[in-house]
Amino acid sequence: MSILIIGGAGYIGSHTADVLKKRGYDVVIFDSLELGHRIATQIVGVPFVHGDYGDLSILNKTIKQFQVDAVMHFGAYASVGDSVIDPSRYYESNIGKGLILLRAVLDNQIKSFIFSSSAATYGEPQVVPIPEDHPQKTTNPYGETKLMFERILRDYDFAFGLKSVSLRYFNAAGADPDGRLGEDHTPEQHILPLLIDTALGRRAEVKIFGTDWDTRDGTCLRDFVHVVDLADAHIRSLEYLKAGGKTTAYNLGNSYGTTVQEAVTATERVTGKKINAVPAPRRPGDPGRLAASCEKIKAELGWDPIYPDIDTIILHAYKWREAHPNGYGG
Ligand SMILES: NC(=O)c1ccc[n+]([C@@H]2O[C@H](COP(=O)([O-])OP(=O)(O)OC[C@H]3O[C@@H](n4cnc5c(N)ncnc54)[C@H](O)[C@@H]3O)[C@@H](O)[C@H]2O)c1
Repeated sequence: MSILIIGGAGYIGSHTADVLKKRGYDVVIFDSLELGHRIATQIVGVPFVHGDYGDLSILNKTIKQFQVDAVMHFGAYASVGDSVIDPSRYYESNIGKGLILLRAVLDNQIKSFIFSSSAATYGEPQVVPIPEDHPQKTTNPYGETKLMFERILRDYDFAFGLKSVSLRYFNAAGADPDGRLGEDHTPEQHILPLLIDTALGRRAEVKIFGTDWDTRDGTCLRDFVHVVDLADAHIRSLEYLKAGGKTTAYNLGNSYGTTVQEAVTATERVTGKKINAVPAPRRPGDPGRLAASCEKIKAELGWDPIYPDIDTIILHAYKWREAHPNGYGG
């Protein structure tokens, strides 16, 4: 099977391409490199096409050249805060360009599509852990683009028979256990890489936004899921669609949730370094508690995370960052 990985030079896409390749799939990575890393694609060691998924002609050429059977779509702008400041960028790219990608998918009779959706589609949760049938009342333009794209995919199934799985990741974290690939975002906004950089002395402090939430210790609760477990969920979703599965959506997390304070303590335990974590006011729009119910994908696809433990997630991320203090830049 030949899989086109849109956004495969980025964090989750490169890890997924790597696991796909190890399991014997033919993979081609397609990425604009606006946020991704050419070197990550070289480490994975699969064909790479430099292009924008808003460019129909290069998409068509690539799909034909590599006889693509299925698409995994990781490409997106993905910062909640930026999306509030400049929603046009998010709608034009995540939706506008996403529709062009879907045009190429339809024109080339591709029937299987896996989409990187997000916990951000739920908004403020009414119950935690959040099940897939929880109301999706997102609170920011980024979440709107993910929700809108899920709805577009449902309509495209009804009208055109395009089968898709939308995977709603909670907090993607960790790194390749062999230390070849890792997380390198600029600017980095995710809490675990920020904690690790602080442990490594590359940052003076980490801000903890809110210490008066309704959680075990007053700090926000988040659900970290290892990037290799995410990759495995993509492959299970692909096989499910190939076996005739219906269009659906699954949550991906570890359900138990980790508070930000617990993440600080775990990072100190794993790294043996003291972290300067500074209390700060709550950020508007941040939900206090986010954790996924993952019973659906476990029951239906047999997904069973290999690395659910927060210490292991942090250890893999730390090992890569320690060896690559400047990310893929060195
Ligand atoms: N990281 C998380 O915790 C998280 C959580 C929920 C959902 N997601 C979603 O998962 C996906 C991957 O996230 P990530 O952390 O790996 O992001 P990332 O920024 O590391 O990777 C995204 C990749 O897409 C590429 N890209 C962006 N626009 C493009 C375009 N127009 N044409 C071609 N390539 C383009 C970028 O260059 C980058 O390599 C995103 O869709 C994101 O919204 C991520």
